[in-house]
Amino acid sequence: MPVLSFRDVDVSFRHGRQVVHAVSAVMLSIDDGDTIAVVGESGSGKSTLGQVGIGLLRPDRGSVLTASGIDLATASRRAIRSVRPSLQLVVQNPYQAFSPRLRLSRSLLPAARRFGSGPARDRVVELFAQMGLSENHLDRFPDELSGGQLQRAALARALIVDPALLVADEVMAGVDVASQEGIAELLRSHQRRVGFAMVFITHDLGLARRVADRIIVMEAGRIVERGPIESVLDSPRHPATVRLLDAIPCLPAAENVETAGGRGRLTGGGPHD
Ligand SMILES: Nc1ncnc2c1ncn2[C@@H]1O[C@H](COP(=O)(O)OP(=O)(O)OP(=O)(O)O)[C@@H](O)[C@H]1O
Ligand SMILES: [Mg+2]
Repeated sequence: MPVLSFRDVDVSFRHGRQVVHAVSAVMLSIDDGDTIAVVGESGSGKSTLGQVGIGLLRPDRGSVLTASGIDLATASRRAIRSVRPSLQLVVQNPYQAFSPRLRLSRSLLPAARRFGSGPARDRVVELFAQMGLSENHLDRFPDELSGGQLQRAALARALIVDPALLVADEVMAGVDVASQEGIAELLRSHQRRVGFAMVFITHDLGLARRVADRIIVMEAGRIVERGPIESVLDSPRHPATVRLLDAIPCLPAAENVETAGGRGRLTGGGPHD
């Protein structure tokens, strides 16, 4: 039973007289424990798809079925509210996840108390430790953490309620490259431990390769390519995927710097070197 199934989903927005088809005819199933990377150029519909997937935005057409049989496209607000804790979203800017006037403990402990059993503070501290944070961070205000630390706290905030699905929308964009690696590993190991599905929206194909099992490539609201991450990134078939791979910045390969001959990818890989 998939955690979430999109069936023929359309979302459009009106900009004056113009209608933007942000998501068109999307069919997608996400299984428990699965991580799907969602990539595509800016404006291709990735965040819109993520918002539909957690019931924040209703599609114009199609269905979005949860494992409990609720269709997020048509369910009552009350039914959507009841299922929302199991569908978590973390976005690029972690400051959006917390009230600036509250210590992190005030944001995290009530959620921990409502969902799950056992002493809430101990569970949060344990999850913080898994995310590379200490108990001391829990008693600070959001602006007393670095952006990367606060993003890890935002991920802990989303995971403490034990969701079935985590939509991570460019969560690494404000985090330095070395920390990205660590957070990606923490997410994967936590996922292996407790099991949840993840939709990992990113512009970074290298990161997508490290985090995800499968990938979908979006263009103008449509899924134009999909498959196991290695095969799509190593043998892309759609021009949109090829463009994304070609856009990865290149650096001179270390051994070729002297001769200035070689080119090596900074991240990712593929047949287009
Ligand atoms: N709330 C909204 N109101 C009107 N138009 C919107 C809204 N949200 C998104 N759009 C439009 O829908 C399209 C898809 O936007 P979306 O944010 O999903 O793209 P994206 O792939 O996440 O882009 P990015 O990589 O820049 O984050 C864009 O044309 C955007 O302008
Ligand atoms: Mg986006």
